[in-house]
Amino acid sequence: MKKILTILCLIFSMALMAEEKVITYENAGELNTLVRIHQQKHYVLLPIEERAPELWVRVIHNNKQVDKICVRLAQNTVDYYMPYDLTPYDVKQLVLDVRTTDNRIYRRQAYEWLNKICLSDTYDVKNVENYRPLFHHTPDYGWMNDPNGMFYDPATRLWHLYFQYNPYGSMWQNMTWGHSVSKDLMHWDYKGLAIVPNDLGTIFSGSCVIDHNNTAGFGKDAVIALYTSAGEYQSQSLAYSLDGGMTFTPYARNPILTADLPDFRDPNMFWNEETGEWNLVLACDQEMRFYSSKNLIDWKYESAFGKGRGNHEGVWECPDLFRLKTEDGKTSKWVLLCNINPGGPFGGSATQYFVGEWDGHTFTCSPYKNSENQDEKWLDYGKDHYATVSFSGAPEGRTTVLAWMSNWLYANDVPTQQFRSANSLPRDLYLYKGIDKEFYVGVRAVRETDQLRGAKTLSTSFSANATKAVSNKMQMPSVVELKIQNKNAEAVSITLSNANGEKCVMTYNLAEGTFTTNRINAGKSAFSGSFAGATTTPLFNKVPATTTLTLYIDNCSVEVFGDDIWCQTNLVFPTVPYNHISVMTDEGTANVTLTEWGIRK
Ligand code: FRU
Repeated sequence: MKKILTILCLIFSMALMAEEKVITYENAGELNTLVRIHQQKHYVLLPIEERAPELWVRVIHNNKQVDKICVRLAQNTVDYYMPYDLTPYDVKQLVLDVRTTDNRIYRRQAYEWLNKICLSDTYDVKNVENYRPLFHHTPDYGWMNDPNGMFYDPATRLWHLYFQYNPYGSMWQNMTWGHSVSKDLMHWDYKGLAIVPNDLGTIFSGSCVIDHNNTAGFGKDAVIALYTSAGEYQSQSLAYSLDGGMTFTPYARNPILTADLPDFRDPNMFWNEETGEWNLVLACDQEMRFYSSKNLIDWKYESAFGKGRGNHEGVWECPDLFRLKTEDGKTSKWVLLCNINPGGPFGGSATQYFVGEWDGHTFTCSPYKNSENQDEKWLDYGKDHYATVSFSGAPEGRTTVLAWMSNWLYANDVPTQQFRSANSLPRDLYLYKGIDKEFYVGVRAVRETDQLRGAKTLSTSFSANATKAVSNKMQMPSVVELKIQNKNAEAVSITLSNANGEKCVMTYNLAEGTFTTNRINAGKSAFSGSFAGATTTPLFNKVPATTTLTLYIDNCSVEVFGDDIWCQTNLVFPTVPYNHISVMTDEGTANVTLTEWGIRK
């Protein structure tokens, strides 16, 4: 009898529990649906469908709007879940106000599709993607674009990387600064959200410096961030950190810089040793504007550069300005980086630069190719190297840069979902003179990449010729080095291929002095009509008798560094990893030494 009673009690309480809904919904007005949460958990998990329309969700806590996010809430299928952190709130005082859509049909269905929202105390960030890079920085989940506010802290020896981040979906939205740190530029630890949207807008790109002398008055060694507040208009805001860049407080009188321009963004500041002032460069529509300041808060306009210079097929974005030396240290020039989208040499996004002089007031640069128009130079000749900017305060006088390894033409469509986009490998820049006596920026992978080289998995020397490709097994990911001694070959081609017949073909044209990566049949490309294609680097130096090509091959990218001078960065999405590498000449012979290393974790 007792047993039967216990069972009945159990059934009864289970029925009660089933009745007690942990999330309830109610329609409000024509377009809104309110979601109420009845159990205190760490996260509410938002179901995302990437092709569903974007909806605004207002987070209301005790009658106050505390957040507003834009999410593609699933209406048919759930592609993945994104976590929204509930720990700052008492869920009993919380209402999520979902503005559904102007389509009444959806409003009537709202209950149905919103009930995929759920609660959880955990969120699993274990990688589920085959294309996730092994040795490039990626967010654990969500969308990433430009690197922001990068700086090196001599006190902790940490490299800080902030980035344009959407924590609520793997497509561009809700711009927030995510934050990762590294001891060696190769392994990154995610530190959470550093600067989140506020009533002035979302947080677009910007920069950080350490204010060693407390010029801004927030404290000695405060980390100062300048970023664009992107709201009804774009303006520049300041935030400061008193804990080495881990958490930031927005300055109370933001914005600190405004202009009557729609495109006014991406502030990049630096300490100018030569003038004893801070300088700031800002992207303003089709030009870069320069400012100076004593205290990082009050900025004086100095001048602008760009009218009639370089490429103007797109918006000028993400500038940087720094002094760069030749390797012998004898000559130095100022280099202005000027990212542009579209207008890149192979379509879409790319980094153009100008070599000139900066006296704290004006940037001057003699016309290149005897022409004031289209006189840009390009930093990387691949299709996936954008928003390049340098680390502030890199040690040993290094100019270390990082880029976003994608292109606005297809960044939102690439075939990953848990995360979208990685950063390029960090590079060190220097100045060199080409055979035309022009100054160019030389690019080499940072020396920290040496530690990527694990066990040697291939080491072979051969004479490549035109009749038969020399083919070897390879690994992906890996680092591959080819030393090519030219005998009388016109061109040497290197092909990475897999069992599905997909090929990434690289051709080093010794006669012309060009290097081309062709990804037309390299793997998946149907996600965008702009993805397949080839990119070509002109070599501004004499083609050396012996060339060293270093290929950094990760799970969805190939970065080729040539003689530590130039680089070509391209994404590739083979359906199965490349496992063959072959080398062939188009005529004549070349002696090739090929070494491959597996990646050391
Ligand atoms: C460049 C850019 C910047 C802007 C940011 C927004 O990729 O358009 O100009 O600050 O992305 O995410």
